[in-house]
Amino acid sequence: MQITAQTLDNLSRLTDEAAVLTDAEGTIVVANEKATDLLGHQIVGNPLEAFIRLPDLPAAIRRANAENLPSRFAYSRMDVVKRQFNISVAPIDGQHVYVFLQDTTLEPTLERLQSDFVANVSHELRSPLNALNGFIETLLGPAADDPEAQQQFLPIMQSEAARMQRLIDGLLSLSRFEAEAYRPPVDHIKLLDLIQSVVAVKQAQAEAEDMRIVVQHAPEATALILADADEMAEVFHNLLENAIRYGDNGTDIIIDMAENIGLRGTHRQGVLRVRVINQGKTIDARHLSRLTERFYRVDEGRARSMGGSGLGLAIVKHILNRHRGRIGITSDNGETCVALIIPTLSTPS
Ligand SMILES: Nc1ncnc2c1ncn2[C@@H]1O[C@H](COP(=O)(O)OP(=O)(O)OP(=O)(O)O)[C@@H](O)[C@H]1O
Ligand SMILES: [Mg+2]
Repeated sequence: MQITAQTLDNLSRLTDEAAVLTDAEGTIVVANEKATDLLGHQIVGNPLEAFIRLPDLPAAIRRANAENLPSRFAYSRMDVVKRQFNISVAPIDGQHVYVFLQDTTLEPTLERLQSDFVANVSHELRSPLNALNGFIETLLGPAADDPEAQQQFLPIMQSEAARMQRLIDGLLSLSRFEAEAYRPPVDHIKLLDLIQSVVAVKQAQAEAEDMRIVVQHAPEATALILADADEMAEVFHNLLENAIRYGDNGTDIIIDMAENIGLRGTHRQGVLRVRVINQGKTIDARHLSRLTERFYRVDEGRARSMGGSGLGLAIVKHILNRHRGRIGITSDNGETCVALIIPTLSTPS
């Protein structure tokens, strides 16, 4: 079998990692582009051990051929930053050995993200749990025969328990939407109708705060979109929830919808733009790009006391990703605007 650089490149492109082919003695015969980028452009014709200083590697290469035995090693290398690799050595045709370097440098970052996530969740759960434990102790001890204290504590306990419930519900929806992220949505829906139905549900909640939700739309903004109706409803539910929660009492919440306009208001063919606008405190510019991170809240104490766990906009962003949409948030002069764009499917006749 004739193995060329092209063959090796084709093989290694399957995994997009560095790979070389050596002869039975460990001299590099062929190297793919990733390998020459990593180890140098003059490596072919030289022993691999000159470029990868790993005591067991030369013997492993010889053994691979002689005993038909694959092996694996962990390897770290100082480039501009320290990089980690898994090296796999495999016999190929009795004369050549395939050495594959899988870059694992980024994997610890993923682990760190996961542990940050666990730390965040624990932190969010700890304070309502502490509060509940404190009240239970009081009710079992000093306030055991004090109906007045019971009247006072039980509603607080109920709201702390509700907060934990909301956090867990939010985390469950987030993980459900993450799992669905790569499955394109299939329903053909008229976004305006869907928004109207969510507004109908939220209007009473707005009225309780002396607010009103007003839907405005350009007459042509009736295009269909390809969407998952439940997920899209969740998007507007979350945005309206925020507008009611963080907007000033006695003001209007505007939803406006237009076709062929991009996030920045310029012409953009084939999208619907929906904006949810409320009046209230201006959000400082430094927070804006971080609002869609999970658990991010502008004023942690205030948002939390309002029942927020910082997951609503993260969920919105995930759903939009699945719908190939985008989100942009601006806040100016006491007016906060969350703008979405979503690709349209067609214009109904
Ligand atoms: N319309 C808005 N006006 C002002 N601030 C907002 C608005 N929407 C969001 N925010 C800010 O962004 C933060 C993140 O919002 P997000 O919806 O992700 O979480 P939350 O409302 O705190 O909790 P959850 O939605 O999970 O109940 C909020 O805590 C709030 O500080
Ligand atoms: Mg929210």
